[in-house]
Amino acid sequence: MFNNRTRIKELLASEKANYETTVMGWVRTFRNNQFIALNDGSTNNNIQVVAELGKFDEAILKRITTGACIKATGEIILSLGKGQKVELKATSIEILGDSDAEKFPLQPKKHSLEFLREIAHLRFRTNTFGAVFRVRHALAFAVHDFFNKKNFVYLHTPIITASDAEGAGEMFRVTTLPIDGTAPKNDDGSINFKEDFFGRSTNLTVSGQLEGELAAMAFSDIYTFGPTFRAENSNTTRHLAEFWMIEPEMAFHDLEDNANLAEEFIKYIIKYAMDNNKEDLEFLAQRLEEEEKQKPQNERSELGLMDKLNFVVNNSFERITYTEAIEILKESNHNKKKKFQYLVEGWGIDLQSEHERYLVEKHFKKPVILTNYPAAIKAFYMRQDDNCEPGRQTVAAMDILAPGIGEIVGGSQREERMDKLTKRMEEMHIPAEELWWYLDTRRFGACPHAGFGLGFERLVQFVTGMGNIRDVIPFPRYPKSAEF
Ligand code: 4AD
Ligand code: MG
Repeated sequence: MFNNRTRIKELLASEKANYETTVMGWVRTFRNNQFIALNDGSTNNNIQVVAELGKFDEAILKRITTGACIKATGEIILSLGKGQKVELKATSIEILGDSDAEKFPLQPKKHSLEFLREIAHLRFRTNTFGAVFRVRHALAFAVHDFFNKKNFVYLHTPIITASDAEGAGEMFRVTTLPIDGTAPKNDDGSINFKEDFFGRSTNLTVSGQLEGELAAMAFSDIYTFGPTFRAENSNTTRHLAEFWMIEPEMAFHDLEDNANLAEEFIKYIIKYAMDNNKEDLEFLAQRLEEEEKQKPQNERSELGLMDKLNFVVNNSFERITYTEAIEILKESNHNKKKKFQYLVEGWGIDLQSEHERYLVEKHFKKPVILTNYPAAIKAFYMRQDDNCEPGRQTVAAMDILAPGIGEIVGGSQREERMDKLTKRMEEMHIPAEELWWYLDTRRFGACPHAGFGLGFERLVQFVTGMGNIRDVIPFPRYPKSAEF
C-alpha cells in the first residue's frame, strides 16, 4: 500500500510528538538546504520537514524545489523553531514529482489574483485559493445537510432541456447538426431541428425550477443543486456563463414561508462554515483587510469579514416591498443629487445593481428581502398579486440582496391558477403547447407552492470576501474565456 501518509492538518492539530510517520505533499519553500515547508492542501499551515545537514545526498536535496511533490518519513518531534509546535525530522525523503524551479509559474511570492486566474490550474496551491475552495466545499456540504435535515428530496433536473425556464432567451444551444452550412433546412430556409439529435431544438438549462415544481407536486419539498448556464454577455464581477444554483421548491408555501426558509437557509450554511472553517475564514478575513487598506477610506467596508458574517447570522433580514423600495430610492439624497447613473423616477423601473446596493449598504446596512415586484419585469410563472391598484400589477416575487454582492437569491410564489397562468404566458409569448407537462401540474392537483434560486458562487463570494466571482469557482466560464 502506497498511501500510508498522515494528513498535515491532523499532525498539526494533534500536537503529539515522538512517533514515526509519513507525509506527502508539495514543497512551498526550501530554506537553508534544511527546512522544507510542505503543504498537502488539508490546511494552509505547512508542516516543517527537517532534512538534517549531511544526512541526505546532494542529488536529492537539489530536487527539493518549490512545487515539487515529495514523500517524507521520519519522527514527529516538538519544534524548537517559531511558528509551529511540531515538525518532522526526516529519515527518508523521496521525490514523487520534480518541479523545475526556473519554469514553475507559482514562485513563492505575492501574485495578483488576475495573474493567478491565468494559471488557474495551479492556483489551488496558493493559500488564498486553498482557503476559498475548502470553504466552498463546506458550504456545498452544508446545503445538503440543511435540506436533508428537513427531509427535502434532492432532485437531479436535466442539464439539456428544450425550454427556457426564465423566458429571457439567454441560452446556449445544444446540437449535433453540422455548422458548416450543410444542416438540413425547412422549406422556409430555417434549420430543420427535427433532424437534430433530440428531434427538436435544445439548449443547456438556465434553471431547474420548472422540473423542480413537477417533483414538488409529489414529494412536497425538493431541492436541486446543479450547474446552470446563461449566455448573457455580462462581463462583471457577479456574472458567470456557467454557475451553480440551489433551487428548493415547496408545496404548501406562500411568499412569506418562502422568505422564511431562504433566510433560515442562508444563515445555516454561513454558520456551518464559520463553525467548521474558522482557520480558513480567518485567513481570508486577514487577506481582505489588507486588500481594503489599498482602497480610499470612503470605499472601505465598515465591517471586517468575520464581523459581517456574524452580523448576518445574528440579525433578521429587512423585508420591504418593491413599492416601498422605490419610495426610499426616489426620496434619497443620492437620487436627488443625481448620484445614481440611472435616476429613480417612478414605479415600474427595473432596479439596477447601484439601487440594490444603495438599499443594502447605505440605507439598511443589512441583507434585504425585496418582495412584490411589478409583473412586467418578472418571469411568467410568478403568482399574480390580488387586489392591485390599476396599472400596478405586482407578483409574489422576492429577491434577497446581500451587502457587497447585490442579488443573491431570486424566487417567488408560483402561479397555481391555470387561467391566470395561461393568460400571462400568452401575453409574454411563451408557447403553452411546449410546456404542456408544466401546465399539467395546474390541471391535476395544483396547490399553492413557492421556491427560490440561490446563486452558489455569489454566496461563496459573500462568505469568503472575494471581490470577483471568477475567483470562487475552480475554472470560470465567461465571455471569451473557457480555458482549462
Ligand atoms: O434570479 P434568477 O434568474 O432566478 C431563477 O433562475 C429562478 N428560476 C430561481 C427559482 O425561483 N427557482 O437566478 C437565481 C440566482 C440569482 O439570484 C443569482 O444569485 C444567481 O442565480 N445568478 C447568477 N450567478 C452567477 N452568474 C450569473 N450569470 C447568474 N445569474 C443568476
Ligand atoms: Mg433574478
